[in-house]
Amino acid sequence: MAKGVLAKYKDYLPLTDDTPIFSLGEGDTPLVKSRHIVDLVGCEELYFKLEGCNPTGSFKDRGMVVAVAKALEAGGNSLACASTGNTSASAAAYGAYCGIPTTVIVPKGNVARGKLAQAVAYGARIMLIQGSFDHAMQLVRDLTERHPIVLVNSINPHRLQGQKTAAFEVVEELGAAPDYVFIPVGNAGNITAYWMGFQEAYHNEWTSIRPRMMGFQAAGAAPIVRGDVVTEPATIATAIRVGNPASWDKALTARDESGGTIDMVTDDNIMDAYKMLASKEGVFCEPASAASLAGLIKHAKAGLNLEGQKVVCIITGHGLKDPDLANEIEPVWMEEYPPDLDAVEQALGLG
Ligand code: F0G
Repeated sequence: MAKGVLAKYKDYLPLTDDTPIFSLGEGDTPLVKSRHIVDLVGCEELYFKLEGCNPTGSFKDRGMVVAVAKALEAGGNSLACASTGNTSASAAAYGAYCGIPTTVIVPKGNVARGKLAQAVAYGARIMLIQGSFDHAMQLVRDLTERHPIVLVNSINPHRLQGQKTAAFEVVEELGAAPDYVFIPVGNAGNITAYWMGFQEAYHNEWTSIRPRMMGFQAAGAAPIVRGDVVTEPATIATAIRVGNPASWDKALTARDESGGTIDMVTDDNIMDAYKMLASKEGVFCEPASAASLAGLIKHAKAGLNLEGQKVVCIITGHGLKDPDLANEIEPVWMEEYPPDLDAVEQALGLG
C-alpha cells in the first residue's frame, strides 16, 4: 500500500490524532542524476527532482494531501481553488478520493489540455473565468471567505507544509542539502515551501548546508523580478502565468535568507531547456518546469562558477500535461511506411 506524505512525515507535519491518514501515492519521487547537461553547466553533480511522478503529475499532490486531510479533520465538506491547471487537477483528485465536491476556478483558454482533462475526469465543478489566474485567485478568496468552503490554494498553510517534504527527500537522498536549488516560480508557494523544508532539515541537523534558492519566473510574467504587479501576464509556460503571486513576500524572504536570486527566463530559453531535458536526459516535463533548467543555463552562461557544486533542478510537472506544446517539437525522424520488413530495413539503411 502507498505510504504517502502523511504517514511518512507525520512527525514533521501539523497532524493530530484526529487527522485522517490516506494517500494516493504522493511523494517519494525520483532524483535523477544528469549525464549530459551537467557538463554544459560545469557543476560537480546535477540532479533533477521529478515531481511529475506524483499521482496527478505535479508537486501539488504533496501539499494537497495535507490540506485535504486537515479540511476533513475540521469537518470541511467542500473544496475550492483557483488554478493555472495543476492545483485544480490535484484538488479534484483528492476531493474525489475523499468523496467531497471540488470547485476549480481557472482562466479560460490558458490551462494546458491534459490538466483540464484531469479535472473533468475526476469530476470537479469547473468554472472557466473570462480573466487571468489572478482574477480567479481573488474570486476564490472572496468565495471561501463568505461560504463554508475550504480554500486549498497554497495560501492555505497546510499546502506549504506538505510541499516542504520534497526538500526532506532531497536531503535524505543526497545525504545533505545541495549547494543550489533551481526552481520555477509562479504563485511563489513552492520556493517558499522548499526553503521551509531546507531550514527545518538544517535545524534538525540532517544537513549542515543551506542551499541558495534560485527561483525563475517567465519574462512575460515576472512581477517579483520587475517589482510590480503584471496585469496581463503572458508566457507559453501557462502553469506560471501569474501576475500577482500570493506568496510574493515569502519568496523574497527565501531568496534573501538563502543568498539566492529570483530572476526571469524568456519563453525561448524555456522551450530550449524543455527540449534539451527530454532529448538529452530522458526527462519529459511541462514547459513551466523547464524554467528551472533554463535559469541554471542562463546563470552558468553569465559566469556563475559552479565548480565543485551540487545542484538540484526541481522538475515540477509532467510533460504529458501539455500535449499541444509537445506536439510542436520537430520529430528527429517520423515517416510513414507500409507494413513491410523490406521497406523498414531499407529506410534504416539495413536493406
Ligand atoms: N511548475 C508547475 C508545473 C506549476 O503548476 C506551478 C504552479 C509552478 C511550477 C509554480 O509553483 O505557484 O508554487 O510558485 N501552478 C499553480 C497552479 C499556480 O494553479 O497549478 P508556485
